[in-house]
Amino acid sequence: METMGNLRRTHYCGEVSMANVGQEMTVCGSIARSRDKGGIIFADLRDTTGILQLVFDEDTPKDVFAKAESLKSEYVVICRGALRERAAKTDKIATGDVELYVSELRILSEAQTPPFEIRDGINVNDELRLRYRYLDLRRPSVHEPIVLRSKVCQVIRSYFCDNHFCEIETPTLIKSTPEGARDYLVPSRLQPGHFYALPQSPQLYKQILMLSGFDRYFQIAHCYRDEDLRADRQPEFTQVDEELSFVDENDIMTINEGLIQRLWKEVLDVDVQTPFVRMPWAEAMSRFGSDKPDTRFGLEIQDVTEVFRGTGFKPFAAVLEAGGSIRAINAKGMAGALSRKNIDKLGEVAKTYGAKGLAFSRLTAEGTSSSFEKFLTEEEKANLYRVLGAETGDVLLLVSDADWVKACTALGQVRLDIARKHDMIDPKKFNFLWVVDFPLFEYSEEEGRWMAMHHPFTLPRAEDIDKVETDPGACHAVAYDIVLNGVEMGGGSMRINDPALQDRMFHALGFTEEKARESFGFLMDAYKYGAPPHGGMAYGLDRMVMLMLGKDSIRDVIAFPKVQNGGEPMSGAPDTVDEQQLKDLCISLNLDK
Ligand code: AMO
Repeated sequence: METMGNLRRTHYCGEVSMANVGQEMTVCGSIARSRDKGGIIFADLRDTTGILQLVFDEDTPKDVFAKAESLKSEYVVICRGALRERAAKTDKIATGDVELYVSELRILSEAQTPPFEIRDGINVNDELRLRYRYLDLRRPSVHEPIVLRSKVCQVIRSYFCDNHFCEIETPTLIKSTPEGARDYLVPSRLQPGHFYALPQSPQLYKQILMLSGFDRYFQIAHCYRDEDLRADRQPEFTQVDEELSFVDENDIMTINEGLIQRLWKEVLDVDVQTPFVRMPWAEAMSRFGSDKPDTRFGLEIQDVTEVFRGTGFKPFAAVLEAGGSIRAINAKGMAGALSRKNIDKLGEVAKTYGAKGLAFSRLTAEGTSSSFEKFLTEEEKANLYRVLGAETGDVLLLVSDADWVKACTALGQVRLDIARKHDMIDPKKFNFLWVVDFPLFEYSEEEGRWMAMHHPFTLPRAEDIDKVETDPGACHAVAYDIVLNGVEMGGGSMRINDPALQDRMFHALGFTEEKARESFGFLMDAYKYGAPPHGGMAYGLDRMVMLMLGKDSIRDVIAFPKVQNGGEPMSGAPDTVDEQQLKDLCISLNLDK
């Protein structure tokens, strides 16, 4: 092994081009692969920016050539040479027009044969990739998203700084508060029996910062939620968090449209049109069966309840009697694509999402096969076809339920399933929209009480304030989610800045006065000393970068993600700890559970 001596990098591999031909330069990195062609050696040098081909031949100094012969994959080197135009160019790499003719080479570190090849397009299982994450991260397709993520953060910082925001770090050892997901707890050594929580978001602190006169705050904040993992959910994730004073919800949405526009332009060179559609929650649910609708394709849900008013078809009649609703999708021209078997599978999807079943009609040139038409009158059938614009070649899919949200949700999942399986989604599109006017509360059967849909500090719409106690189900929130391609990328709300209204909210949520004071006393007091109107939002940074890159999982944009059981395979976290560490914390384990 050698040292760098007086060699220092002058150029990055991925950044040289024909414009540099003839220049002497020093580059460094790892050998991606090397090919000895007998008398001439080619080696691909990889650094964080890309790959550059190195060349050695009979005119190369003898000692340098000898070293080049010993090069193996993943050896770490620094070398100097002259950049020249390649005889055989390639467009497989960005620097495929040029190569470095090496005159000096130092091998800084040798490398064992890695457990998998360090290049794109190989088939390695996830477990192995994550155990050797440092090797996995060398692969360009794994490396590049992490670099892009850094660029995203730079643009976010510069946009916020240009718009009078102040970047402030809030504590990550905080008080555990009820509501929301399960907290990660950290025991206190100095106060035995007491626990900190890791923040699920900086929510309370950022509200306090508005009361502290900071006016506009942002933070790229680490957050922790002890929930089950999903493709777009990790127990530890990053929020782009913000809060603003002296604004209303429209101001916040406009400022954030500016952020998105700048990000997409500077990072992806994509022009995003603003303002985004602002769609009330009820419309999103009824047209798309989702509060995060993917609007890149049609298959919209339609309300056919009125067609069946007074019907003799028992299942529909029972639903209507219970005040329910019948919703339908017309999959236009899809009778060929959706076989009976496919439709049965869609029925399973609908059931998974709470529907009792999926009624269907498949209108083919050979005739109609339907699970329910034979029970309808001619008039009902004609009306159904008219409302849905049904014609030969179409497939009609219906769900009825006493709860219209349930009917729509099930059809919304059917809609997504059809679009995904039949390639109806253009992956290049970025369809942004705001979902607004969320319900203020949702009823939890489990807890037997109303819960805040967003959080307890969310401002009710002015016209609903009177109904907070008497009709919680009818109240709407001044809350908004930003949705991109069917994913909730972020969300926020205007906050309550009137202590009396906040008290009423806690009451409506079933908090006793003592419980509210115990959990949020400091916040309730703070609002008594003058509170500007304020609101904010937070993006999931991981989700944002995933969507920018068209990836399927946030794991692809996190350097060291967790796996399904919450573990981090490379380091082996979580792990047991020494008896003494537990003793210091006055903790004894009971693992019988
Ligand atoms: P919310 O709980 O909606 O709002 O979170 C904001 C955004 O954070 C992202 N997110 C996650 N990303 C990855 N893994 C997770 N487990 C996870 N949980 C949430 C989502 C989500 O839209 N304090 C409020 C915001 C506010 O009102 O200002 C909040 O945390 O993209």
